[in-house]
Amino acid sequence: MVEKLDRERGRRLSLDRDLKNASDGIAKKYLSEEIQLVVALTVEKIEHKSYQIYRVGPVFTNLGDVISKINQLRMEVPPILQKPNSMNNFGLILPDKVFSYFNSKIRKWAQEQQFPTLTPRCSWDEIDSQKVFCVQYGPSMDKSLGWHFDDSELTMSICLDNSGDENGQLLLEDGTMINQMKNYAILHDSLLIHSAGISKNNRLNLICWFRSSKVRKSHCPMCNGQPEELVPSNFDTGGGFLK
Ligand SMILES: [Fe+2]
Repeated sequence: MVEKLDRERGRRLSLDRDLKNASDGIAKKYLSEEIQLVVALTVEKIEHKSYQIYRVGPVFTNLGDVISKINQLRMEVPPILQKPNSMNNFGLILPDKVFSYFNSKIRKWAQEQQFPTLTPRCSWDEIDSQKVFCVQYGPSMDKSLGWHFDDSELTMSICLDNSGDENGQLLLEDGTMINQMKNYAILHDSLLIHSAGISKNNRLNLICWFRSSKVRKSHCPMCNGQPEELVPSNFDTGGGFLK
């Protein structure tokens, strides 16, 4: 057990540097390609007695193009960019610079949509960084995901590919099950405890973790303590603790 924890500690300590090195090696053609977002989309409240949860979309003007760009990039990047976070084992971390700074673009796009408020901790205007990644599920990949909350303030989970809406539902602790509809996003407060139901067939989601340095400077969302110092990051915006 101690050995396992030591290994994970080492992985995290060098993670930003290793991610930056991997991202520096990405072929130039991926930097200038574009992904187009829909301008006018529908916003539907998902009924829940305690939480503000919304389904919005359609998100992309050409979903097939987005899927093929992501699949192509994933096949070319080193393994460190293929593990999206500490829980998911299959997917792709999108460095900000790829697809013409898509990550910053989708953050600004989400802010322009004037989506409803999801949390008392911050408004959409107070979001100033993001981590964007894909997660892949299916019989030969991760089949489900355990209970957790996200390392961000606001979460937008966009279903890119699915065999049916009920495959790999978003689950909440009170038994709520939310379908994953292709090209539609689910918006929720990142501290909402959630998990992913079993994907019997392949599913691909694009996850945006939107972060607010104002929130992060006042208390760490993971341990709730006040950060003593802000650690500079050398991969994109790291944990969102902007100076
Ligand atoms: Fe999550």
